[in-house]
Amino acid sequence: MRGLAGKTAFLTGSGAGIGRATALRLAQEGMHVWVSDRDAAALDGTLQEAERLKLRVDALQADSGSETEIALAIRTAFEAAGRLDVLVNNAGGSLHTPYRFAEESDEDWHRVMNLNLMGAVWACRAALPLMQRGGGGRVINYGSKAGRYGSLIAGPNYAAAKGAIASFTRQLAMEYGPDGITVNCINPGVVLTPRTSGLWAERRSAAERERIVSEIPLRRHAGVDDIAGVVAFLASDDAAFITGVSLDVNGGQAMA
Ligand SMILES: NC(=O)c1ccc[n+]([C@@H]2O[C@H](COP(=O)([O-])OP(=O)(O)OC[C@H]3O[C@@H](n4cnc5c(N)ncnc54)[C@H](O)[C@@H]3O)[C@@H](O)[C@H]2O)c1
Repeated sequence: MRGLAGKTAFLTGSGAGIGRATALRLAQEGMHVWVSDRDAAALDGTLQEAERLKLRVDALQADSGSETEIALAIRTAFEAAGRLDVLVNNAGGSLHTPYRFAEESDEDWHRVMNLNLMGAVWACRAALPLMQRGGGGRVINYGSKAGRYGSLIAGPNYAAAKGAIASFTRQLAMEYGPDGITVNCINPGVVLTPRTSGLWAERRSAAERERIVSEIPLRRHAGVDDIAGVVAFLASDDAAFITGVSLDVNGGQAMA
């Protein structure tokens, strides 16, 4: 990818799953990558993998559900690296809250909105002034197929949070475009990670699972590398004129 080597990226929730794969991919493109996660053991796993691949990755433990922690981590990475070019707001998920609206409590709503929406708001609040100071940057937020077309495994709280991420993305794109900062969001369909594989098996029968995959034009779910590649593209110079986009990455399962 053009224009990534030598730049710095900060990713939230990148100790496992899509976040880890994306961190390693950006580092393979020559970036200095800062991974953050609330789980120290998971972060260690990412660091070990980076070391094995001889990649430039540093880690900071931070809970994306806390503005203080995420702001401190972003500021620490910026001060150590001297620049911040790319922010990837990966931390998120439905936190195993119920699928049915009537079964979701206020607490379920608050937890999911806090992590998926406010986590991104807080990270953007910390990162955008640093990018303005540096003359530009890239923000890549994680929406979901759930936020645009509904979800087969996560409930209304998650769909609402991810829909809000898309609106938030468009509004930031308008406001920060003049500063040379692009803001985009990606909407993955089901990406098979250990967490989603469990949810997928729990909430859909084997027959439903088979039928759903047979109806996806590309006849499979995404792997983490499918998402990592799209993030690398959006962070690269090749995507310099793309902003405010809500990009579906779902194998054609749902199309606008
Ligand atoms: N996996 C999917 O099918 C799928 C589909 C669409 C969108 N997404 C979105 O992609 C992103 C990554 O999903 P994933 O399935 O790889 O996630 P995951 O559940 O596998 O978690 C990845 C990492 O996030 C960390 N994390 C969780 N809560 C955190 C918090 N409060 N603070 C810091 N770190 C935290 C975990 O410790 C873990 O290391 C999320 O925003 C998710 O909503 C995932």
